[in-house]
Amino acid sequence: MEINSETVAVVTGGANGIGLALGEALIGRGARVALADINGERAKSVAAALGERAGGYACDVTDPASLATLADAVVGDFGGVDLLFVNAGIALGGTVIDIAPEEVQWLYDVNVIGAVSTVRAFYPALEARSAEKGAARIVFTGSENSVGLPALGPASVYTSTKHAILGIADALRRDLQETKVTVAIFCPGLTATRLWDARALRHDRYGGPVKMPEEEGAAMDAHLKAAGQDPALTARICLDGVAQDEFMIITDPVIRTFAERRHGEVGEALDRLDTRLADYGIASADGN
Ligand SMILES: NC(=O)c1ccc[n+]([C@@H]2O[C@H](COP(=O)([O-])OP(=O)(O)OC[C@H]3O[C@@H](n4cnc5c(N)ncnc54)[C@H](O)[C@@H]3O)[C@@H](O)[C@H]2O)c1
Repeated sequence: MEINSETVAVVTGGANGIGLALGEALIGRGARVALADINGERAKSVAAALGERAGGYACDVTDPASLATLADAVVGDFGGVDLLFVNAGIALGGTVIDIAPEEVQWLYDVNVIGAVSTVRAFYPALEARSAEKGAARIVFTGSENSVGLPALGPASVYTSTKHAILGIADALRRDLQETKVTVAIFCPGLTATRLWDARALRHDRYGGPVKMPEEEGAAMDAHLKAAGQDPALTARICLDGVAQDEFMIITDPVIRTFAERRHGEVGEALDRLDTRLADYGIASADGN
């Protein structure tokens, strides 16, 4: 899908990090961009800095009414939507065993249910645009955690939300195959953002806001700056993949090792199944 001065894009989680880098890269390619974020003030200020082709909006993806208001506002201001980046997300460490139940809920409400609600809110606009111009596209931000298990600390629940995004994107691609609305999933590796500071804006119902001590935050920033990809490069690779109509867009070569490990495991399990079924005297059949 060509990205040019006729393109209108919406980016949730657009006030910071990867979402903001996507906004900057989209503007760089001539598009008009709506940056939506729970931090509405920052979304507005970064949009103002990007110039008149950008707009900033407050929006909470855990609230379908807020998404409906956003969709109406964007269609009113920009006349339609060609590209929807379902990008807002939070990351928290912790295993299934030790993470607080309200944080499990928060992760799912933002990363999974928020993504579904975002698509539902914008689908009518995307469908209308695809009827008018022949194409519209939904781009989910997954993660390296969508395609395997990176060598990071424990983050079982976060990982599961990003596996869910892969399932949603892949199934939605199939569900929409008779339409002109297409789907992509973009899987960044470790990227130099402030994703680790998600609790600073945590809703009261999930435990309220907590600011990370400054020293700890500075150490996280330094680590991510050294180890993470520059979000500008992440966004550039993403937009090139979108422009080439790719379904899966991976931005970091380190993902190969653990993604191939996962696929290797599936292949080996299927090989063992063939052997088992042969032992049982049952013919193996490929259902698809
Ligand atoms: N940074 C990484 O290493 C990395 C790696 C893989 C995937 N990702 C994914 O990239 C996406 C963007 O993350 P980032 O790294 O740019 O982090 P970030 O914290 O810089 O940006 C996320 C943005 O989402 C916003 N947000 C949070 N909750 C929201 C809500 N309820 N409604 C609306 N906006 C909300 C935040 O205010 C923030 O501006 C996330 O989906 C994340 O899971 C990040």
